[in-house]
Amino acid sequence: MTRPFPKDFLFGAATAAYQIEGAAFEDGRTASIWDAFSRVPGAVIGGDNGDVACDHYHRYPQDVALMKELGLQTYRFSTSWSRVRPDGGAVNKQGVDFYKRLVDELLGAGILPWLTLYHWDMPQALQEVGGWTNRDTVERFLEYAGTMHDALGDRVNVWTTLNEPWCASFLSYTGGEHAPGHTSVAEGLLASHHLLLAHGATVRELRSRDSSLNLGITLNHTVADPADPQNPADVDAARRVDGQFNRWFLDPIYRAEYPADIVEDVRAVDAAAVRRFEEAVHDGDLATIAQPIDTQGVNYYHGDLVAGEAPASSPPSGGPATTRPGRSPYPSDAGIHAVERGLPRTAQNWEVQPEGLTRLLHRVWDEYAQPAGTVLYMTENGAAYDDVVSVDGRVHDADRAEFLRLHLGAVLDAAEAGVDVRGYFYWSLFDNYEWAWGYDKRFGIVRVDYDTQERTVKDSGREYARIIAARAL
Ligand code: BGC
Ligand code: BGC
Repeated sequence: MTRPFPKDFLFGAATAAYQIEGAAFEDGRTASIWDAFSRVPGAVIGGDNGDVACDHYHRYPQDVALMKELGLQTYRFSTSWSRVRPDGGAVNKQGVDFYKRLVDELLGAGILPWLTLYHWDMPQALQEVGGWTNRDTVERFLEYAGTMHDALGDRVNVWTTLNEPWCASFLSYTGGEHAPGHTSVAEGLLASHHLLLAHGATVRELRSRDSSLNLGITLNHTVADPADPQNPADVDAARRVDGQFNRWFLDPIYRAEYPADIVEDVRAVDAAAVRRFEEAVHDGDLATIAQPIDTQGVNYYHGDLVAGEAPASSPPSGGPATTRPGRSPYPSDAGIHAVERGLPRTAQNWEVQPEGLTRLLHRVWDEYAQPAGTVLYMTENGAAYDDVVSVDGRVHDADRAEFLRLHLGAVLDAAEAGVDVRGYFYWSLFDNYEWAWGYDKRFGIVRVDYDTQERTVKDSGREYARIIAARAL
C-alpha cells in the first residue's frame, strides 16, 4: 500500500556551517568556540577539527547540483557568525558574500533556502567574555542577525534563530561535552536563558523589519518513558528528563514561564546556581522570549527509557568516549538511570524508536504549537551507521534507508492523525564533522571521502530521492 504525503509537504536535508564548510581561517573568518574546543586535548575523538570538513565553502556549486539531483525541495543550513562578524565585531563582507552566493545557487536550482542563524559556532572572542553566560552576547547576536537579514532578507523567507538551545547550553556549559566544555550548573542555566532571550529578541527584530518572514526556532526533543509506569521513582525520573530537556525550552517559548517543578529540583541540588539564574531573568525577558513564532523545528533522534534506581545492567552510553572529564548535562541528575529495552541501536548506540517520534509530534502539537498557531517541521532526524564502500564503489546502507522509511512513516502517522507537520529534513545531507565524535560517525545520505572530497550518493540517498519523486512511502 502506498501512503502519499500531504500536498504541500516539503522534503529536504540539513547541515550546519562548522560541520561542513571548512575554510576555517579563510577570507577573514576567525576562530569560533569549536575551532578552540576541538584543539583541547581529549575533547574530540581523534583530535579532529573542522578546518577542512567537507570543504563545502569551495565546493558549494557542485553540492547544490547534487541536492538538485536528489530532488530536494529545501535545504537547511546554518551561517557562521565567525565568518560574518569575526570575533563578534565588524561585518566581514567576504563572509557575507559567501552566503549570498550559496543562496543564489540554491534559488537558481529551485531549492528553498532554510536558514539557521546559530548552530553552535560562536566567535571565540565572545566566549572569552563569557559567551552565552554574558547577557551582552544577546546584543552581539542581534547585530549579527541584523547583518544576515540586511544581506539576505530579499531572498530568504525562512529564518530559524537557534538550533537546539539545549545542546548550546546544558550539553556545553553543564555537561562539558560540547564547546566551551564547561561543567557548571549555573552556567548552563544562564546560557539557556540568554540563548532564549537572543531567540525572542531576534524574532521581534526581524518581524518588525518584515512581517512576511517565516520565523522560528529548532528544538531537540526526547520522549522520556518510565521503565515501570507503576513505580513512582521511575515516573519521577521521566518527569525530570522531560522537564530538563523538553519543557525547559517549550514552556518559556510558548507560555512565557520556566517549569516551576524543575526550578525547584535544581534549587534542591544547587541553590546558588538557581539564585544566579533568577537574577539573570529580568522583568520583561519572558515576554520577549515568548514572541509568537510561525514555525517550530522538531529534531528527534531517540527516546529515553529511565528508572529512578540503577538497573542491574546499564545500557551502552550514547555519548562519545572522549577523555575530558564531563558531568551529566542535567542540572538535577541524581536518580535518572537509563534502562535497556532491547531496541535496535545505531552505530553510536542511539536507540531506533520511530513510534516515539509519532508520540512526540502529537505532544508538541497538542500542548504547545496548535494553541499558539505554530506549524511544525521535522528539521532533523537521522542515523550514524558504520558504512562500507562495496567493491562496486557504492554504499549499500540498508540500515539507514530503513531508518529513513520508518521515521518518515512515523511522521505520516502523526500527519494523518491531524498534526500539522509540513516537512522533513534528513540529518544529514553529507557525512560531516560530528562534534565530539569527530569524523568517526557518518550520518550522510551522501558519503564524503575526506581524503579526496569525493561525494558518493549512498543507497539511502537513492531511496530518499525515490520517495521524494513519488511523494509517497
Ligand atoms: C545527544 C548527544 C549529542 C548531541 C549532539 C544529543 O541529542 O544526546 O549525545 O552529542 O545530541 O549531536
Ligand atoms: C545536531 C547536529 C548533529 C546531530 C547528530 C543534532 O543534535 O543539531 O549538529 O550532528 O544532532 O548528533
